Amino acid sequence: MKYMTGNELREAYLQFFSEKKGHLRLPSFSLIPQDDPTLLLIGAGMAPLKPFFTGKMKPPRTRVTTSQRCVRTGDIENVGRTARHQTYFEMLGNFSFGDYFKGEAISWAWEFLTEVIELPKDKLWVTVYPDDTEAIEIWKSQPGFPQDHIVKLDDNFWEIGPGPCGPDSEIYIDLGEERGCGSPTCGVGCDCDRYLEIWNLVFTQYDRTEDGQYKPLAHKNIDTGCGLERLASVVQNKRTNFETDLLYPIIEYASKVSGVKYGEDAQKDISLKVIADHARSMAIMIMDGILPSNEGRGYVLRRILRRAIRHGRMLGIKDKFLEGAVDAVVEIYREASDFGELVAKQDYIKKVISIEEDRFAATRNQGMELLDGEIKELKAAGKK
Ligand code: ALA
Repeated sequence: MKYMTGNELREAYLQFFSEKKGHLRLPSFSLIPQDDPTLLLIGAGMAPLKPFFTGKMKPPRTRVTTSQRCVRTGDIENVGRTARHQTYFEMLGNFSFGDYFKGEAISWAWEFLTEVIELPKDKLWVTVYPDDTEAIEIWKSQPGFPQDHIVKLDDNFWEIGPGPCGPDSEIYIDLGEERGCGSPTCGVGCDCDRYLEIWNLVFTQYDRTEDGQYKPLAHKNIDTGCGLERLASVVQNKRTNFETDLLYPIIEYASKVSGVKYGEDAQKDISLKVIADHARSMAIMIMDGILPSNEGRGYVLRRILRRAIRHGRMLGIKDKFLEGAVDAVVEIYREASDFGELVAKQDYIKKVISIEEDRFAATRNQGMELLDGEIKELKAAGKK
């Protein structure tokens, strides 16, 4: 296995698909969906590319590769509690719009994982949609593929609201028994941290309509998604995504400000991880033009920001601290392609966050005064 920084890993992926496999390398799209009322935020690499899958728009090339910035908040309560959940992450992807299909998608994923970043073949597992015998045969023909490491899963079908979708095949790495839950049924697909899903290959063949019908698309496509932070945790040999160089500097910052050491208290570690995750989300959301508000995307941002402050309080941080967290985020991405805007907007992002931190403090103080008043009145009346 090759050690790589997060930035090196992103480059290795994008270079592999652009220089070796003929893909056009595009910069990440904004987190704000364009002309897509079905989505609040971009949560997958394929989301900004939907019109190319459906044929509504002609793509600049039939093969494209990106590292797409994504925000997903469905699992926000799991952030910091598992090794792998985040609200902000980058999704590496290679896409085919009516060009190559399963054979190439599978063999290139295998080549990248086993030859470019040199993951051990015997630790890799895949899942497939149960009746996808074609995918099973293609997997079995990959050089050195462990023939019994294929699991059929009913839920191997990928869709994100209405739009392009299809059966998929997921690639997992076995991180070892000691990382597992110990349950006799623990295996690929278990919720624990032993089998880590690192890449999803979607064989996009249908267009789901608003009323739930699956219409075959005019051409077959490929949509893949490989979590950069998860892959970084593997090549950097870290127990969680939070310990990779894509997140750890923010934990170090929060640890310094709070005086709480990472790794000594499981509950406090959760707060340190939440701050690290949320700091990246808020910085990138503001970079993309979102402002805190009480509705839509702005509310997602406000909620993330306030959650980070609350976890700061849980660590004993009394003063404002999020501007420093933004500095830590910017340093992580300073040398990365696609993040020039983050560096350029550093002061602006800090300003927006500083104002929101003040506003939240005022709201909180006002709330505390009201609460104290009520408590005093109850006490004076001899009530509890
Ligand atoms: N669109 C697929 C996913 O997000 C690759 O998992």
